[in-house]
Amino acid sequence: MSIVSPSLLSASFAHLEQDCRMVLEAGAEFLHFDVMDGHFVPNISFGAPVLKSLAKELDAFYDVHLMITDPLSYIESFAKAGASLISFHLEADSPVQETIDAIHAVGCKAGLVIKPATPAEALFPYLDKVELVLVMSVEPGFGGQSFMPSALPKLQAIKAEAERIGRSDLWIEVDGGVGRDTAEQCAQAGANVLVAGSAVFSAADPVAETRWLKSL
Ligand code: DX5
Ligand code: ZN
Repeated sequence: MSIVSPSLLSASFAHLEQDCRMVLEAGAEFLHFDVMDGHFVPNISFGAPVLKSLAKELDAFYDVHLMITDPLSYIESFAKAGASLISFHLEADSPVQETIDAIHAVGCKAGLVIKPATPAEALFPYLDKVELVLVMSVEPGFGGQSFMPSALPKLQAIKAEAERIGRSDLWIEVDGGVGRDTAEQCAQAGANVLVAGSAVFSAADPVAETRWLKSL
């Protein structure tokens, strides 16, 4: 069984609450909230005020993925808005341990993310410091891109290292192009949290798609 974290980037912003309720009722345990600043990535999505409105209406586990240059400065506002977990990029301009500590200090779980060009080993020094690691299987910035198979050996390497250090409880998340053709391979390689945006929200039956992802 996998944890499914539907990416709200592919939901309808006009009825975000209904879309979230639908996937939660289908068994999604997380909601993936992709924050983009138009600087770290070449796109702008949404920020803390949108999360705040949503979290006020809907009690859920908000898995906030910060694709922003300066995550440290925004941790408090996302925590106040209702984030359950905040993940940030190893490639961002943020002191890594200090940022992890700041996330824990506001009562959130912490996640560390790597882009496709960053090796899995770059995460190893932090595997015992965070609750989640996220391997990007597309270049961050847009939904609906094709899965990069180079993520698979990275997931395997992280899983092996996590087991070696006694962290089999670590959430290993994969994000980008995860769907019918790729999700099973991700789960087999060690991912236990599957982010899926277009695969869920653009499907004819998002409920069935969420249930299928969860069954992996
Ligand atoms: C990309 C985002 C992803 C994206 C996934 O920058 O981090 O979460 O929304 O979308 P799909 O599943 O459509 O690739
Ligand atoms: Zn994401």
